[in-house]
Amino acid sequence: MPAAYETERYGMELQIQNLRKSYGTHTVLDIGSLTVHDGGITAVVGPNGAGKSTLLNILAGLMKSDDGEVYYGGSREIPFQKMTMVFQEPCLISSTVEKNIAYPLKLRKYSGKEIHSRVGTLAAELGLTHLLGRRTEGLSLGEVQKTALARALSFEPELLFLDEPCASIDPHATLEIEEMLLKRKREKGTTILIITHDLAQAGRLADQVVLLKEGKVVEACGAEKFFSHPDKEETRKFTGGELLV
Ligand SMILES: Nc1ncnc2c1ncn2[C@@H]1O[C@H](COP(=O)(O)OP(=O)(O)OP(=O)(O)O)[C@@H](O)[C@H]1O
Ligand SMILES: [Mg+2]
Repeated sequence: MPAAYETERYGMELQIQNLRKSYGTHTVLDIGSLTVHDGGITAVVGPNGAGKSTLLNILAGLMKSDDGEVYYGGSREIPFQKMTMVFQEPCLISSTVEKNIAYPLKLRKYSGKEIHSRVGTLAAELGLTHLLGRRTEGLSLGEVQKTALARALSFEPELLFLDEPCASIDPHATLEIEEMLLKRKREKGTTILIITHDLAQAGRLADQVVLLKEGKVVEACGAEKFFSHPDKEETRKFTGGELLV
């Protein structure tokens, strides 16, 4: 990997058009048009079953839609090498924390020196340095989640998808993860899409918020507008803690 890559800013706009997914007769996703802005953090929120994970899985190329298109930086080709996903319950390799973080770099044939340097930096940033030699079995949920995030960020993806990464972890680990995401956005311009049930987290992180309900986009706009003066009554109810029926 050329050294210049390190200092470049990058990110990727996503354009979604007429995306549909059904299970039998149940349509779980039906999005006419949605743009995820380049180089920002977009929070996807909505009630259980709204289709948030389905949307992320389709965007990440883990699931096929029935219909519609996704354009990644203007191209319909899924850029698997430039993007990655962190799940609520990440699957770590049964090995050490260090080997897990290094794994994407080994796959991409980075030099041993570069791997050592990147793993060291990420571990320090996420408070994982003392755990590098530990095996992954027996790690706490927060440690697992931070290891998965470090692994995802190690190759500097242009696009990062996160499905409720902080759902079962404590406020301190949550803060470390949020700081890391904001740093990547600031320094690298990484395009980040995060599903969260925590509206306060969406407020702390997001530039853009998308509210999904029953597979449809209720509102997608800048975070400030979303929380203070949304266009839709349903958005106001949702942010106000009322049930959406
Ligand atoms: N394999 C499947 N077969 C049938 N229905 C499914 C399947 N996977 C998901 N669904 C349905 O699709 C809908 C959307 O599910 P999805 O997991 O995307 O929602 P979500 O917004 O991520 O919800 P949560 O907040 O609970 O994680 C739900 O009604 C769910 O029951
Ligand atoms: Mg989900």
